[in-house]
Amino acid sequence: MGALEGRIAVITGAGRGIGREHALLFAREGASVVVNDLGGSNTGEGADTGPAHEVVDEIVAAGGKAVANTQNIATWDGAARLVEQAISEFGGLDVVVNNAGILRDGFIAGMEESQWDAVLAVHLKGHFSVLRHAATYWKEQSKAGNQPNAAVINTASGSGLTIPNAGQVNYGAAKAGIAAMTLVAAEELERYGVRVNAIAPIARTRLTLATPGMGALMGEPEEGEVDLFSPANISPLVGYLASEKCPVTGKVFAVQGGAISELGGWHDVKTIETDGLWEIDDIAVRLP
Ligand SMILES: NC(=O)c1ccc[n+]([C@@H]2O[C@H](COP(=O)([O-])OP(=O)(O)OC[C@H]3O[C@@H](n4cnc5c(N)ncnc54)[C@H](O)[C@@H]3O)[C@@H](O)[C@H]2O)c1
Repeated sequence: MGALEGRIAVITGAGRGIGREHALLFAREGASVVVNDLGGSNTGEGADTGPAHEVVDEIVAAGGKAVANTQNIATWDGAARLVEQAISEFGGLDVVVNNAGILRDGFIAGMEESQWDAVLAVHLKGHFSVLRHAATYWKEQSKAGNQPNAAVINTASGSGLTIPNAGQVNYGAAKAGIAAMTLVAAEELERYGVRVNAIAPIARTRLTLATPGMGALMGEPEEGEVDLFSPANISPLVGYLASEKCPVTGKVFAVQGGAISELGGWHDVKTIETDGLWEIDDIAVRLP
């Protein structure tokens, strides 16, 4: 029996790259998958129904269960329709993998409003919109006495968590926001039987190959060499986090090459205290 037998999952941005590998693995492990992809460019321009349908065709040809969804998850209604499709086509929802992403890199002093808005919309609002509609469904199920055993896996990035990547202020801010959202959601949704975790992956995809320096970091493997930077090497962690027996919640994991690391967040590193009201001079002496 597959590790995800009987699970019903929606995976955003599953037409290409890492999301596509999640969809293929989930289906092989017995899940019914709603394969979402808008099919736009790296920068989020345009749309193409091809990638989502191609992944569905591949899954169905291999004997798996999948349907395509080409909604834009950066919109509230698109996210709602994605969640509704899982319920209407497969009869429920157990797993959300928020993965869709774009890049519009730029330095702060020259960044256009559209670069900021597009990246925040796809990553931060896109993650929240799908989470919001799924959480509404799970809350209703819980209140009706059908306590869910559900999982959300969000996609953060080292950019914004461990690496303050110059030129990615929009992307880093969105990804740090996704990590924070993950921790809040894990606290809030536990009562409805929902676990929430995030990954910060590194893999060879069109997104990373377009980022200066990244291609060299993840060269093509030699003949017979294990391809640790294949996007397929990210999906087993996501499959584990999605599985019914997994107890993990409220965590963020970096996954790259042959390593999986649990990341830790903000914490106090130094405290100064006063008995009276603060004076600028006092802070100036004691804080640096
Ligand atoms: N590849 C890496 O090394 C890496 C590193 C850190 C984070 N990530 C994150 O992993 C996720 C997947 O990235 P990838 O490298 O596989 O990129 P990718 O470009 O290969 O795949 C992303 C997919 O998301 C889809 N998409 C974009 N906007 C969408 C929208 N509004 N609605 C629906 N679908 C949409 C695209 O059409 C594309 O098929 C992203 O969130 C990315 O930020 C990737």
